[in-house]
Amino acid sequence: MIVFPCVHYFMENLSFSHLENFENVLNWYQRMTNNEQIREAAIKCGMFPKTIPTSSYLKPSITIPTINQDSLYKRDPSHSKMRIKYKNPTETLQLLEKFKIYPEYSEICCTQLDWNNLPKELHPATGDLPAKRLERKCQQIESIVTAALKIAVEGQTIVEFCAGGGHVGLLLAYFLPKCKIILIENKESSMQRAFLRAKALNLKNIVFYQCNLDYFKRSFDMGISLHACGVATDLVIQQCLQQQASFVCCPCCYGGIQDTHLLQYPLSNTFRTTGLSYKNYTLLAHCADRNEVNTPTAKQGELCMGLIDMDRVHLAQEYKYVVKLTTLHPKSCSP
Ligand SMILES: C[S@@+](CC[C@H](N)C(=O)[O-])C[C@H]1O[C@@H](n2cnc3c(N)ncnc32)[C@H](O)[C@@H]1O
Repeated sequence: MIVFPCVHYFMENLSFSHLENFENVLNWYQRMTNNEQIREAAIKCGMFPKTIPTSSYLKPSITIPTINQDSLYKRDPSHSKMRIKYKNPTETLQLLEKFKIYPEYSEICCTQLDWNNLPKELHPATGDLPAKRLERKCQQIESIVTAALKIAVEGQTIVEFCAGGGHVGLLLAYFLPKCKIILIENKESSMQRAFLRAKALNLKNIVFYQCNLDYFKRSFDMGISLHACGVATDLVIQQCLQQQASFVCCPCCYGGIQDTHLLQYPLSNTFRTTGLSYKNYTLLAHCADRNEVNTPTAKQGELCMGLIDMDRVHLAQEYKYVVKLTTLHPKSCSP
């Protein structure tokens, strides 16, 4: 409802000949206006939905400028890593050491799932994952599901944020039939995949919201996220803290961490009182992404990653949480 008027305005002011270049927008607008209720609401608000001619009538007449073929995604190494290639986090590491802040890991406890005896729709292979990533994905899922099952309580509402194709949430819905599982994901195609898998599994205790995770406003008991990129992990934790919900989060893309209108780094008072600047914090976060095995920066990268996670640990502890920081099992399943 919020987006529709904007897109409608966009459609009205662009000639059809340009629309072919906005295929996803076009498809979305078409689907919305095919819905009778949306159409009626739009007309009542003075927006008269346009009938889009089929693509065979579209004759694109704009020239697409030549641009660098690189990604706008923050994680793209060409965007983030080059700038800090020669910068060193030593000063920050020494400062945190002075304040006795080190990564403190708890023991790993992970149960392997008997995938062969689970319905096939629960296997990540059903979620369109490339074969070479399957084994590692299964291990990642096992780690996170084991941790979640350990703290889940019957009757709880559990939210999987940034759920992608629903690998984790579907398993939780299957293992915890007395809990309500909510899947939040902003990418339509991923959510659709998760939805079809749940339908095939005939799961009755799962619901789906296609939205940005920070738009989700309701109470829940536990939050889960697997590889919610950069800031997204902290938004998940923020949501959980606000709801006093327990959480199991496996972050990724530390280099993408930056201040937003919803959060400022460092997160915890413990880190803030060290006087660590935002600039040095983001350098630490960038260095946390330089953790590929067998590289000169791997060890330091792992330390930086642990420290960023300790900021999250301290934040939760300041909210009186009991926190365990651990790694996925085996560690090689995800850098
Ligand atoms: C790296 S994928 C992980 C997906 C899934 N958890 C898994 O491990 O297979 C991150 C997912 O988060 C989604 N995402 C990123 N930012 C989001 C936000 N602000 N709100 C909701 N979903 C988001 C992306 O669309 C993507 O599907």
